Amino acid sequence: MPEVSTSTLIDVLKVIGMSDQPPIDSHNETEVRFLADAPQDTLRLGTALATILPPGSTVALIGTLGAGKTKLVQAIAAASGVPDGAVTSPTFVLCQPYTGTRTIYHLDAYRLKDEDEFLELGPEEYFESDGLTLIEWADRVERCLPDERIEIRIDVTGEQSRQFRIIPVGAGYQAILQPLQTMLESSVELG
Ligand SMILES: Nc1ncnc2c1ncn2[C@@H]1O[C@H](COP(=O)(O)OP(=O)(O)OP(=O)(O)O)[C@@H](O)[C@H]1O
Ligand SMILES: [Mg+2]
Repeated sequence: MPEVSTSTLIDVLKVIGMSDQPPIDSHNETEVRFLADAPQDTLRLGTALATILPPGSTVALIGTLGAGKTKLVQAIAAASGVPDGAVTSPTFVLCQPYTGTRTIYHLDAYRLKDEDEFLELGPEEYFESDGLTLIEWADRVERCLPDERIEIRIDVTGEQSRQFRIIPVGAGYQAILQPLQTMLESSVELG
């Protein structure tokens, strides 16, 4: 069999449409991508999520230090009527509940020793509630999360810019993708 160089292989994949990343701000079958050029855009994403996420949703936030996990929680909380300033990083209290138009449970797995310590927080109670459970550093406790959840992966793409990927895990949340995309597009038109 002739040797095929990596670049040739990439060219072939491009031709058959398997190599190029989908454009930013796009919706495909499995995720919504959203590029925030500034914190204001992250606020817009949080507002859209607060509107669209059904009661009882669990959101797994995944991204490095300073990616914007807490910023997004603040945006969702603000759009859910939680008073300004209530949302901080739950560094010492590992779960902070906030009350607005619905209850938000804000968890942060960063300082947890292991998954057992997470389970000791009694997360089932939050998952099974009508509230919204938002978990920072969720990748550290992935095996303890409900099978049906929304994953939000955040990549730092510049000082002020962040790439968000909203990925439903399990069949139940697939239905949020299209309305989320539509809402993000219309909020950009409104400025
Ligand atoms: N587009 C943006 N969206 C969100 N935050 C941004 C953006 N641009 C810059 N920032 C800054 O990035 C920082 C994000 O901090 P934040 O506390 O939300 O990160 P985090 O992911 O929660 O980190 P940690 O893992 O330490 O909890 C803030 O200082 C914020 O002002
Ligand atoms: Mg944080």
